[in-house]
Formats: sequence, C-alpha cells, structure tokens
Amino acid sequence: MKIKAVNGFKDILPEDIARWQHMEKTARDIFDRFGLREIRTPILEKTELFARSIGEATDIVEKEMYTFADKGLTMRPEATASILRAFVEHGLHVKQPVHRLYQIGPMFRHERPQKGRLRQFHQMDVEIIGASEPQVDAELMAMGSLLLDELGLSASLEINSLGCPECRPAFRVELIKYLETRRDNLCRDCQRRLNTNPLRALDCKNPGCREIVQDAPSILDHLCDDCDAHFSEVKKGLDQLQIPYTENRFMVRGLDYYTRTTFEFLTGDLGAQAAVGAGGRYDGLLAQLGGPDLPGIGFALGMERLALLMEQQDSPHEQPATDLFIAALGPDAAHYATGLVHELRKAGLRAAMDHSGRSLKAQMKQAGRIGSRFTLIIGDRELEEQQAVLRDMHNQEQQDFPLTGDQDNQVRDLLRLLASN
Ligand code: HAM
Repeated sequence: MKIKAVNGFKDILPEDIARWQHMEKTARDIFDRFGLREIRTPILEKTELFARSIGEATDIVEKEMYTFADKGLTMRPEATASILRAFVEHGLHVKQPVHRLYQIGPMFRHERPQKGRLRQFHQMDVEIIGASEPQVDAELMAMGSLLLDELGLSASLEINSLGCPECRPAFRVELIKYLETRRDNLCRDCQRRLNTNPLRALDCKNPGCREIVQDAPSILDHLCDDCDAHFSEVKKGLDQLQIPYTENRFMVRGLDYYTRTTFEFLTGDLGAQAAVGAGGRYDGLLAQLGGPDLPGIGFALGMERLALLMEQQDSPHEQPATDLFIAALGPDAAHYATGLVHELRKAGLRAAMDHSGRSLKAQMKQAGRIGSRFTLIIGDRELEEQQAVLRDMHNQEQQDFPLTGDQDNQVRDLLRLLASN
C-alpha cells in the first residue's frame, strides 16, 4: 500500500522550488532594506499562548488548532503570538526601543483544504514592536505593496480601523443591539457568536448575514478622537507614499488581538481565498502576554497563495541551471571526469555528470534537461589524446578543449570561458 501525504499537507516539488526561492530571496532583500531582522521561533508552543492572544472565541482557537491535548502543546497556527512570546521571554525591549522582525516558516490550521487553503501553509510574517506612529502603519503596508510589486504580482489593499479598548466596547454594544433584532436571519455561527464575538458577523460570508450587515453601524463612525486621528494619519501616510487603498468598514479579521489599523492585500485571481496577506495593529497584546506595554503592528503573507499567483500571473523567476555538464564515455574518462567535476564545484561552478555510463546521445539529452550552458565531452580516446570537445548548448557550436596540464589549469580555463559567455 502506498503511503500518501496527510490531507491538506503538501509537498513542494523541485519543479516549483524556483518560485519559492525567488519569493523568499525577494522578501529577504526587501526586509533587509526596511531594517528588519530575522527571528526563528519553534513550531510547538504552549496552547495557552494562542488561546490568550488569538482569542478563545475565534475559529482558529475554537476548532482549527493542531493540539496535543495531553501535553498542553499546539503547533503554531500563526507567527505573531510566538514572536511576542519570544520578545517577552528574552526581554528584547531592554536592548532597543523599537524592534523590526520577520519570520518565514510553516503554520498549521485544521481548515477544510481547497485551492490556496492548506492545513500546513507557509507565511512570511513581519512585526514592528515598540512604535505606535501611524507613519509606521503606512510604511509597513508600503513594504508589503513593494514586495508584491517586485514579485510581479498585483493585489489591492483594503484598510480599516477597529478602534481601541476605549471606543470599541460602545460600538460592540451598538452592533449587538442591531444584530439582536435580526437574530433569526443570521447564520448559526453568527447567532452563536452574537455575544462572544459579534464583530465576526461583519465579514461573515453567508449571503443572509451579508445583507443584514450592509446597514449595520460602522466602527468608523464610533472611533474615539485618538483612533480617528490615527486612522486619518495612516491614510495620509499611504497617500504620501502613493499606495492605493480602499476603506472597508466590514473588515474585522479572524484574530482577536487587533486594535486600530487592520489591512488585507486581496486578489481576484484565487477564487474564495482572496487574501494573499493581512495584518494590523495589536497595541495591548504584549502587555497581555506579560510583557511591557508596548504597541505593535505586523502582517503576514501566505506563501502558497503567492506561489499560485506567481504561477497564474506568470511572474518571472530564475530557473536553476547548470554551468557545465561533463559527458564522459568509457571508464577512464568517467574516472577523470569525477575528479574534474569536484574541482569545478570547489571553484564555485554548477557542474554535473552522469555515472551510469550511458550513450553520448542520452548524456546530451540529460545536459539539455538540466539546462546546462556547456557540455564537455570526454571519451577514453580524447583522454589519451588530451583533447576534449566543448559544446556551447545555446548555439551548438563546438571547439576543442585541451586536457593538457593538471586539472587546476583546466578549471581555470573553463572558469574563464564561462565568465566570458
Ligand atoms: P491571517 O489573516 O490569519 O493573519 O493570515 C495571514 C495570511 O496567511 C492570509 O492572508 C493568507 O494569505 C495566509 N493563510 C492563512 N491561513 C491559510 C491557510 N489555511 N492556507 C494558506 N494560506 C493561509 C495572521 O496570521 C496574522 N498573524 C498576521 C499578522 C501578523 N498580524 C499581525 N502581525
């Protein structure tokens, strides 16, 4: 019986990896330009960490976590909570006032798998801890937007403000009052969450709920003066940086820790899974996790969704290639080539050969398949005559290549030749 991968857990095959590496390389380069430093936290955390930060009444904590119940441990469903836990645990705030961090890695949520939605998926997550200024919100969104641009992808940006502990409770009461009078027409989930997490009704996908919330009170009309001013400055910041956005007062996000600015990068090209990235501010969260009362903001991009988009939108990325393939014919030539390939690799070249003693035709085919720039053909006779044949795989032109002197000489000659092509 063949053993298959677990449902919702996917292999990323070598033919897809160029896209993934390009995505990571581009992201790391941009993160570096924006002064972010990498952090790597463990996959397993205490379950309590996620319950306390993401929120007990969220879908993630209620039903999507991979938890080892007997051990009280959970495989991280997202990165923010873990990064903040590490921040507090290592007292990072003592070293400098503002921390700009990123993490790239797998996350785990037990959702129903579909296109762009997996149970193990990967995020590129960014967090700026210690800055409350609205310019930082705009800067972060501009960074996300630049990253999508440099990946050759188009997505739109939607923003909202969820207020703060000062103004949100009054809005919540208003919203519950509004929803209560329409309770019977809400979906089961929204009815159940009416008193625990009423804001979720605002972005419920159920058509009945969608219709009801069209006329629901808007959080943007209930912001306190500080939150209102903050949101205005965020928008001004985006305007200044020429980042297009639309306001979406229905955006609430599936995690409870958000305050003030929230945002999503959306695409129309992935069916139901429209969000390629999302995030927001979480000003009280660090204190809630036992740390200093510092503000924070971050977002995460979903890498499977980016990879799908790159494939669909045919965004350019480098294919892996080989510099030189040595087609060796005969046992002595193969022995010689084995040493030369290793010397070439030591010198920094992507060199390859075949050890199975196949025909020249088969080896030339293989050289083509792995995208080799040149092929060096060495037979036992060529070895004896100290003269191999070098074929340019682009134009099929051939030239003699002397095998005189030691292999160091040959490596130098090949390096020179490749550098000039
Ligand atoms: P999130 O909206 O839950 O936010 O996830 C961010 C992104 O991860 C989504 O926009 C999506 O692209 C991707 N994603 C989420 N779930 C899946 C899935 N099951 N399969 C594939 N991709 C998925 C967060 O996780 C927050 N921690 C973001 C954040 C950072 N907020 C502040 N700092």
